Amino acid sequence: MDHAATREEALARIAAAQDLGALEALRVEFLGKQGSISGLLKTLGAMSPEERQVAGPQIHALREAVSDALTGAKAALESAALEAQLASETVDLSLPAPETQVGTVHPVSQVMDELAEIFADMGFAVATGPEIEDDWHNFTALNIPESHPARAMHDTFYFPDKDGEGRDMLLRTHTSPVQIRSMLQVAKDSPGGAPIRIIAPGRVYRSDSDATHTPMFHQVEGLVIDKGITLGHLKWTLETFLKAYFEREDIVLRLRPSYFPFTEPSVEVDVGFALVSGPDGKSRRVLGGNGDEPGHGWMELLGSGMVNRKVIAAGGLDPDEWQGFAFGVGVDRLAMLKYGMDDLRAFFDGDVRWLAHYGFSPLDVPTLSAGVGARA
Ligand code: PHE
Repeated sequence: MDHAATREEALARIAAAQDLGALEALRVEFLGKQGSISGLLKTLGAMSPEERQVAGPQIHALREAVSDALTGAKAALESAALEAQLASETVDLSLPAPETQVGTVHPVSQVMDELAEIFADMGFAVATGPEIEDDWHNFTALNIPESHPARAMHDTFYFPDKDGEGRDMLLRTHTSPVQIRSMLQVAKDSPGGAPIRIIAPGRVYRSDSDATHTPMFHQVEGLVIDKGITLGHLKWTLETFLKAYFEREDIVLRLRPSYFPFTEPSVEVDVGFALVSGPDGKSRRVLGGNGDEPGHGWMELLGSGMVNRKVIAAGGLDPDEWQGFAFGVGVDRLAMLKYGMDDLRAFFDGDVRWLAHYGFSPLDVPTLSAGVGARA
């Protein structure tokens, strides 16, 4: 049997294929498992040795020719597609640049950059964790067992399905699970354990919504694990951070006993402010000064404490050897206090007028030397 006709037809159809999809269809038609040429190859088995000696090389040559044609056509179509793409993506360098800068850095991003800069100067690295968490990392490992009322207080968004290990899945309600993840990582990577110095900025979620609460907001977690760490280290760290962040030396902190399941003792940190009357006659709170002075007050700013022994153990470290402190603070809140916005919801409206007003220049990167809060 002569396959010249089959071959001519196949090669003509391959040459005429307009795109990679059509080519792939032809490959399947000829060379696929049920393909016509594959079918021919299968007939070899039933032939006599003499017949096979003649037909074998012919069929193999046919297959080879078709396969080569397919490869060649594929390469040609691909390079034509690339050429077309390159031609359509040329940049017209003669176009003028926009007269005004377009786009700004969101205050939340700006503040997170400022925080990273300030804490890097104190030797902290930036750590991250998943926003979709399991209830072990978000609650149990942080000493919030199943029956604990704090679970209900967190207004958690749960997913309908459990993970592979049978754990409830949720949107993390705080950045504290990154404490656990950081400790476990260190316990695994360096069996000697700590020290750890990290901040963990990121999104957190709670089913809550009004002028000061949005279902998604931002926190930054701080964690230090080392030997002989005390509340004094916590206070110094927070004071140094807040002075650098608010760019004033007269920031005064007040530590108040509080309760968090994952810290013991726990302290709520207040910052002193002065009531100053503005041009409109309304009085504003300006951070700085001792809140106990006349005309001053205290504003609650963040939660913190010494990491609970149970949490250090859940993180895979020996609590007799390692101690530490942790804190968690609202990033949106920090932005509002420094840059003067008063409605949290506007942060997430995506209104370009708000962004143009409160946003920052992408070229104005916060650095300690140039000032962490330079305005756009
Ligand atoms: N995770 C706590 C919250 O979301 C804040 C916190 C963090 C408190 C670390 C103490 C230590 O409210």
